[in-house]
Amino acid sequence: MFNSNPVARPSVPLFLRRLLLAAGPIFVSAALTAAPAPALPAPALMPLPADLRLEPGRLPVTAAFTVAITHHDDARLDAALARLRQAWATRTGLRFDFGPGSANASTAPIAALLIDCQAPGLSVPGLDENESYTLDVTPRQASLRAPTVVGALRGLATLQQWLTEDAGGFYLPAVRIRDQPRFPWRGLMIDVARHWQPLEVILRNLDGMALVKLNVLHLHLTDDQGFRIESKTHPELQAHGSDGHFFTQDQMRRIIAYARERGIRVMPEFDIPGHATSWVVSHPELASQPGPYAIERHWGIFDPVLDPTNEALYKLLDDFLGEMAALFPDAFLHIGGDENNGVQWSASPHIQAFIRDHDLHDNEGLHAYFNRRIAKILARHGKRLAGWDEILHPGLPDDSVIQSWRGVEALAAAVRQGYSGILSNGYYIDLMYPASAHYRADPLPASTPLTPAEQKHVLGGEATMWSEWVSPETIDSRIWPRTAAIAERLWSPREVTDVPDMYRRLAIVSARLDEAGLLHERNYEARLRTLAGENAAPADLAAIQTFVGLLEPVKQYQRGQLEPEMTQGSPLDRLADYARPESAPAREFAAAVDRFLFPSSPSDATAAGVGLTRELETWIAAARQVSGSLGAASPALREGAPHALALAEIGTAGLQAIAALRARRAPDAAWRTAAVAALDRAAQPQPTATELMVVKPLRLLVVAAADQDRRPALSADAWRQHVQAAALRQPPPPPPP
Ligand code: ACM
Repeated sequence: MFNSNPVARPSVPLFLRRLLLAAGPIFVSAALTAAPAPALPAPALMPLPADLRLEPGRLPVTAAFTVAITHHDDARLDAALARLRQAWATRTGLRFDFGPGSANASTAPIAALLIDCQAPGLSVPGLDENESYTLDVTPRQASLRAPTVVGALRGLATLQQWLTEDAGGFYLPAVRIRDQPRFPWRGLMIDVARHWQPLEVILRNLDGMALVKLNVLHLHLTDDQGFRIESKTHPELQAHGSDGHFFTQDQMRRIIAYARERGIRVMPEFDIPGHATSWVVSHPELASQPGPYAIERHWGIFDPVLDPTNEALYKLLDDFLGEMAALFPDAFLHIGGDENNGVQWSASPHIQAFIRDHDLHDNEGLHAYFNRRIAKILARHGKRLAGWDEILHPGLPDDSVIQSWRGVEALAAAVRQGYSGILSNGYYIDLMYPASAHYRADPLPASTPLTPAEQKHVLGGEATMWSEWVSPETIDSRIWPRTAAIAERLWSPREVTDVPDMYRRLAIVSARLDEAGLLHERNYEARLRTLAGENAAPADLAAIQTFVGLLEPVKQYQRGQLEPEMTQGSPLDRLADYARPESAPAREFAAAVDRFLFPSSPSDATAAGVGLTRELETWIAAARQVSGSLGAASPALREGAPHALALAEIGTAGLQAIAALRARRAPDAAWRTAAVAALDRAAQPQPTATELMVVKPLRLLVVAAADQDRRPALSADAWRQHVQAAALRQPPPPPPP
């Protein structure tokens, strides 16, 4: 989550670099290249199926579309069909009749869609569920076959995305799909403790998960900043630990039922013994130092930790975990276990005496003792244990699952000790990394050192939405659409690694997620209107959209350093809260710069140059408007004014670079020095906690323009290498004060 100790916590970029190195050669999707190349639109599925072959022809989708279900049919399948109808109706404007009731087995031979489901599958969603399905679309019929209802649900999610449109109307391209997941555990963790996320947030995100075939909702229910579940055995826990923001047990049953209907498990996490301040607000006697305690309002790692030497603690945990074991049908219960800094234990004479008397050696040994006690309690209540890396000690039950936030090496260590593991390192969506970075993280990279037997214990992974910097209004935009790329990594074959194709499909699946009720698109535009203010003209709004569209929130844990004054109660209405985690315009600009500087044909370069010029002119105008009159519209925009000025400045340098390249006349050294200095200024961290994402491609333009006299003597490759290296060169350190 939050790191106040960079030594203890490995830097994620470092790790991603390691993964990148480990990921091996990049293949284009095996499934897609294996197919013949019919003249049909490329598919927009995410995740890509294990095996997909486009066939010639299409099945029209009109209001008269009919559906039949054979063999097994039940309420879950009917509800999924109703959701498909709703999604397609929203997209097409057609009034479909098909659905539960009309789905009559006797019409099977003539139905447009035949669903052949063999059996209900598990009554409670579980790891052993068979999620496979086949989908064959011919010009006569679409037939979806699955051994279980959940398999049929996964096939319906594919079908929902597969609907295509052209001038001839809506249709399903003919296709042959054979599909099953690569990993059985494909999760999204939502932290509802730091910033409370109410029922509707969870429900709509379950709809998003279902669309991209994620199958575990991991709810991080307790932490220093909140105790978010109703206990009936110990109601004082939520009464004093939640500010009134918690799920009642009835609400939780609703979430679990909603998830089950979509073939999704719900695994609760109660983070103990650290991250436990909210517990000891009502029970200071269970902490390792005397209280009193109050709900924590800041972000970080805090000292309060439960006292494992206190027998009363195990009595309370037995009551509470027993109650939760009955509420949550999932086989697993997650006990957290991360980031216990040991400060309170080390400062406690009776705890240190206990460690000596019980030969536990040190705080680590005490943590292991605590985990063994908890494991016994969970076993008695019929649950398997899950926890973060730090619970990895000898003596856990063999069927425990370790969730690795530290990396594939930590995951491998758990697996080698005989436990199962899931990967979250690389999937920390709170760090504001691009989808491509998450996409490259693989729980089992081709270079894995694990034996085939050990590999079976790598169950999958989870995206983690830690909530220091998200509100119910912004959380969807932090989860989606990037989590769809993670869903693909966990579902699709390892060889599916084509990043440009991922981005092409991600844009489309993002619209499908919007259709499913997520607010990542809708809230973005609505929030920008509030930035512009009530009296804004359409041109003002367009300028703000252009400017904010080029920003991203700062990466990793920088925001906490830039805005240390922000607490749980601070409104999340800074520029960093409006900006998307990944700027598509900036990514597209970088691609256009690449085509311009390193073209495969002269006409490519000309077209790219025209586009870049137009784009830069738009940015400069927008930036001047924002730094000028619009800066008064809202405090967030006023804060952004220096960034806007920087954008105008480096945009102008970009225009000059393009003109110089076209004229084949290198500007002088003074121009280069001034342009590079402006780029360096624009790259500085800003109090807005945002980054201007176009600095890097503009650097390429500037150095290419300045160094173009070298171009004739270099090969195309050598020229590219020269420009890239020159653009990367670190600025000289600032002069001493
Ligand atoms: C974690 O990020 N401390 C699990």
